[in-house]
Amino acid sequence: MFKEIWRRRVALVEADLLKELRRTKSLDENLSRAMEYSLMAGGKRLRPILLMAAADAIDSSGEKFTTVADALEMIHTYSLIHDDLPAMDDDDYRRGKLTNHKVFGEAVAILAGDALLTLAFEVALRQKDVAPEILLKVLHEISTAAGASGMVGGQALDLRSEGIQIDFETLKLMHRGKTGALFKAAIRSGAILAQADEKKLAALTRYAENFGLAFQITDDILDVTGDEKILGKPTGSDEKNLKATYVSLTSLDAAKNFALEAVDEALNALKDFGTEADFLRELVKYLIARKK
Ligand code: IPE
Ligand code: IPE
Ligand code: MG
Ligand code: MG
Ligand code: MG
Repeated sequence: MFKEIWRRRVALVEADLLKELRRTKSLDENLSRAMEYSLMAGGKRLRPILLMAAADAIDSSGEKFTTVADALEMIHTYSLIHDDLPAMDDDDYRRGKLTNHKVFGEAVAILAGDALLTLAFEVALRQKDVAPEILLKVLHEISTAAGASGMVGGQALDLRSEGIQIDFETLKLMHRGKTGALFKAAIRSGAILAQADEKKLAALTRYAENFGLAFQITDDILDVTGDEKILGKPTGSDEKNLKATYVSLTSLDAAKNFALEAVDEALNALKDFGTEADFLRELVKYLIARKK
């Protein structure tokens, strides 16, 4: 059931993403190809899935909000294109394919990222079935999460922490920014679109914070223990770049325990929800077992 819903929604989102790309009147063919290359390369589509699952937990309205969900996937894909650039993590594979800059060159990869980020907001503004003031709230949520106080800020901390000793608080802040912020925006956006009350919004926010933490800790673990073929991206990237991660700052076992604790916290945050939050429960449990 869980996998089935996930698959169906991935198909929904991907059909939409392609449609959005095709309706964009890009001035440059090569730029369009670069955008499509990374956006349509697969990926778990977790942020759109989370947005929909959060709306479902409120009033089963998840599939009404695929447009904002698509926008999140565009922002996420842009962040991956830039994350792989030589000036950042300098990686050659992503989603099982050569990274964007390996195929299109650095300049076009940078622009493809820029264009996807911008397209995200153009697309999100087309969301139907929502009052303008609610959509504004959601766009505020997403734009702050994507920028210096969220994802980009976290990426800056990540780069500045290469090769130096950082403390645990800084590591947590970095994770909250580079990965957590967009997950939190996905879940809060779904909840806000479905007009969750304050209590439910707060509970889902707590779920989201722990989900994001467990997710990035697992990403750090998979960089050490994962299988490149399954992951679709290189392992050992963090060690190569002397990154500060949960594994490098503690140990593999300690990192696994931190992830387990975060999963428990996330489940606990959902305690006042009934079966309508089962998908969210399954999703956070999947994190621990994931191989990609
Ligand atoms: C990878 O994100 C980058 C991080 C935030 C750690 P995902 O693991 O969600 O990547 P895709 O979208 O499935 O490729
Ligand atoms: C990247 O973290 C997070 C973002 C892209 C915002 P990582 O650098 O650990 O992600 P991977 O491991 O390359 O996917
Ligand atoms: Mg990185
Ligand atoms: Mg990286
Ligand atoms: Mg990583």
